[in-house]
Amino acid sequence: MDINISQKPAQPGAPNFFESGLIHDLNKVLTIILANADMLMDDLPIFGQEWVRAKRIQTSAMRASDILDQAINPLRKPRQSLACVSILTLIQEVLEVLQSILPAGIEVHVDSRITRDKILADAAQIFEVLMNLLINAVQAMEGGEGRLTVGLDEVALRDRPDNPKCPSSNYLCLEVRDSGPGIPQRVLDLIFEPYFSTKEKDRGLGLGLTLARRIVEEHGGSITAESQPGDGTVFRVLLPYVD
Ligand SMILES: Nc1ncnc2c1ncn2[C@@H]1O[C@H](COP(=O)(O)OP(=O)(O)OP(=O)(O)O)[C@@H](O)[C@H]1O
Ligand SMILES: [Mg+2]
Repeated sequence: MDINISQKPAQPGAPNFFESGLIHDLNKVLTIILANADMLMDDLPIFGQEWVRAKRIQTSAMRASDILDQAINPLRKPRQSLACVSILTLIQEVLEVLQSILPAGIEVHVDSRITRDKILADAAQIFEVLMNLLINAVQAMEGGEGRLTVGLDEVALRDRPDNPKCPSSNYLCLEVRDSGPGIPQRVLDLIFEPYFSTKEKDRGLGLGLTLARRIVEEHGGSITAESQPGDGTVFRVLLPYVD
């Protein structure tokens, strides 16, 4: 396997002229989608089946707009806007967005053992973490065949030497597990580094895991990866419950 730190643009991560135009045009399209979804929701009976569909269009367009904002300047620190968030709803939303690019041979499972579903978090940011982990998992299962599992569990931790300021001892443990080829140890040591990628230039910038780690740590949590080459990969995200 060739391991390359992706070639950095002159201003790392900054969109070039062509991309800036594309982002501008995409933003215009999203504004139209959002405005129409809003109008539809106003016209439809609230919580009816069609209203729920319009709501999904609105939510997905808002998420896409957040992702685009982040794409304009990938290393910009976004403002955190905390709210009480249902992790199961977020997972559902991400899976719905992914549905359209998911190869038919990849089975998706959600394995939840939690009794508390709510965390205090920035929904858009946790959405981005989930998206980055799931897209990596799908990309890893190159033949378009495999198993993708999102696991949820509750853990109580006594000592958190890696994050002593942690606000909680009760954590939500979110796992993203794939049955891809796994990651050799020498690569595993580098995956959270900015601009580290083993992918073709047009498939990866090497920022997904760097941003995921930053977001998770800003939420008082941690992210780790475990992999046996040939036996898939599991990313484990701990996020504090509010006690
Ligand atoms: N589930 C996985 N299975 C195998 N390798 C993985 C997996 N997730 C991440 N990696 C490895 O970690 C590297 C860094 O991942 P990261 O998400 O940061 O960047 P990327 O996917 O290459 O690009 P970007 O996310 O910016 O599009 C990947 O290039 C890949 O080598
Ligand atoms: Mg990635």
